[in-house]
Amino acid sequence: MVKLTGHKKIKTAVFISGAGSNLKSLIKFSKIKSAPISINLIISNTNKAKGLKYANFFNIKKKIFTFKNIKHSEKNILKLLKREKIKFICLAGFMKILTSNFIKKFDGKITNIHPSLLPKYKGLNTHERAIKNKEKFTGCTVHYVTAKLDSGKIIIQTKVNITVKDNSKSLAKKVLKQEHKLYPAAILKVFN
Ligand code: GAR
Repeated sequence: MVKLTGHKKIKTAVFISGAGSNLKSLIKFSKIKSAPISINLIISNTNKAKGLKYANFFNIKKKIFTFKNIKHSEKNILKLLKREKIKFICLAGFMKILTSNFIKKFDGKITNIHPSLLPKYKGLNTHERAIKNKEKFTGCTVHYVTAKLDSGKIIIQTKVNITVKDNSKSLAKKVLKQEHKLYPAAILKVFN
């Protein structure tokens, strides 16, 4: 757990690999006066991540690390995080698995958003699997990141109904809409 000290916002980095819609919702949230975090750095493993556009739009520093050599990338990320005085990390659609060595350095200070009701449907293609298993509902989870994939302590979850009309695309859209509310709510829970 991290406690908010004084009135200064906690400098936060968001790691992305894709569209960055969760990044956008976190940036918007961080601009609210009472938000406990500020987004000061965006990290991606690919320059193809569409979400990188928010770095320019909101004037936030961005940096790409390829993760072709994981140890090398993580070492350089840690250096950058230190230089930028980053104290908290939000993974938001970041599709690389961080090593336990990296996670240890930010123990209890990394969160992730996952498109299922963990502990159900860890990993990829969560919506396809939920539909295939004829689940009546699914959802999204924000959890602390530990060395074991999608297994850290759960901070908060939201349920989403699955109807007979749903396919993985429509379900992903419905869940994503909830994710955008859930991540800010999780951050408030972490720091209050
Ligand atoms: C979100 O649905 C997020 O939960 C998921 O990727 C999407 C990213 O969307 N993350 C994972 O699957 C992590 N295992 P975004 O780039 O628009 O925020």
